[in-house]
Amino acid sequence: MASSVLSAASHSFSPSSSLCSRQTHKGKPKIGGNTLRFNKGLNSFPHARSSGRISMAVAVNVSRFEGIPMAPPDPILGVSEAFKADTSDVKLNLGVGAYRTEELQPYVLNVVKKAENLMLERGDNKEYLPIEGLAAFNKATAELLLGAGNPAIKQQRVATVQGLSGTGSLRLGAALIERYFAGAKVLISAPTWGNHKNIFNDARVPWSEYRYYDPKTVGLDFEGMIEDIKSAPEGSFVVLHGCAHNPTGIDPTPEQWEKIADVIQEKNHIPFFDVAYQGFASGSLDEDAASVRLFVARGMEVLVAQSYSKNLGLYAERIGAINVISSSPESAARVKSQLKRLARPMYSNPPVHGARIVADVVGNPVLFNEWKAEMEMMAGRIKNVRQQLYNSITSKDNSGKDWSFILKQIGMFSFTGLNKDQSDNMTNKWHVYMTKDGRISLAGLSLAKCEYLADAIIDSYHNVS
Ligand SMILES: Cc1ncc(COP(=O)(O)O)c(C=O)c1O
Repeated sequence: MASSVLSAASHSFSPSSSLCSRQTHKGKPKIGGNTLRFNKGLNSFPHARSSGRISMAVAVNVSRFEGIPMAPPDPILGVSEAFKADTSDVKLNLGVGAYRTEELQPYVLNVVKKAENLMLERGDNKEYLPIEGLAAFNKATAELLLGAGNPAIKQQRVATVQGLSGTGSLRLGAALIERYFAGAKVLISAPTWGNHKNIFNDARVPWSEYRYYDPKTVGLDFEGMIEDIKSAPEGSFVVLHGCAHNPTGIDPTPEQWEKIADVIQEKNHIPFFDVAYQGFASGSLDEDAASVRLFVARGMEVLVAQSYSKNLGLYAERIGAINVISSSPESAARVKSQLKRLARPMYSNPPVHGARIVADVVGNPVLFNEWKAEMEMMAGRIKNVRQQLYNSITSKDNSGKDWSFILKQIGMFSFTGLNKDQSDNMTNKWHVYMTKDGRISLAGLSLAKCEYLADAIIDSYHNVS
């Protein structure tokens, strides 16, 4: 019924008194024939009324989308919206993981500006890229991940497809799992970056969690992690954060990575690495890729999603890649063909701007070295802020609580251990915006604001249960 009303309404964009009367007499009250609603609609469209047209009023009043409920705000991006709406002078946005300068301003890397200038000088065009993306980018990104001389690359066992940053690349990997590993389960850490669950849900891939964070030690629950990976059905996919685990900032040690690889190998699982912070955790690109390289060196087949949002500050350029390291060049070629087939109906082909920036920066030794220096600078600033926050908290809090976890965690975030009510207090009383799982982004903090944040954390921890 609703559809017949709407189609009548949409036809009536041209003035038609017969349509008007048809609508008035035939429409059932529930969906717009109701005189009251009808009149109300006309009143709010005086223009339509005066010209004798009812079309717009009807079309708007009887929405075909009425059955669609309001979606909740995104738990991470929604924090920025709330922050914008707050008029307080002392407000602090520690929700989204985006790097800020000491003045808390967004930062465009100098190497990015130089790469953009190069593009202008060359007069690069805006033609479509192939479905798999820019060839120079795909080469650069696989080499950056695995090391240029990696045998898997030389043996052409790596299928690399440019993706829409980390999220889009994970989504392509999830689509591949859904299509070719029917019923396979994905294991994700508890907790994990909030979007992982959305990604696998939307790709219709079943997932469950493995233990990762131990609230008692505010550290890694290594035993629990190993047990859960062991007890998962053989051939499951295990999502692992390559470095700088989000949200906890807690990474396995190199020895623990070896043991994780042992169990995954024993159980014939397939690791699916999410590498969103290469170079940003330690300041070294190679060190931060060590976990992935360890698995690949064992000859394991591995999926890796990469992102350049954080380490090159290309958040809005949506540049990343999905890499599938396979045991033979033939299967790598087949996998790549299928990744392209999955990408084509989703977005056809990826954007070129960010891909050129990465290819130019990684492919040019001068720019590459400048990038490494800038990355070290950014990682260094975050480390300084982490130390300063720890110093401020420990000098103010005499309760004997051990805050050393702040220093042990790495990367952009600190997982404070604050619960939802305490996190709410941080926002409502102190104007500190953060995710409700107690995560704060240290990349959004300055040395100057550490004292204030320390007061907020101490108050929330001790005075809110
Ligand atoms: C663990 C993790 N994976 C992936 C991403 C993807 O980010 P993007 O899609 O911006 O590259 C993020 C961003 O916060 C992240 O923290």
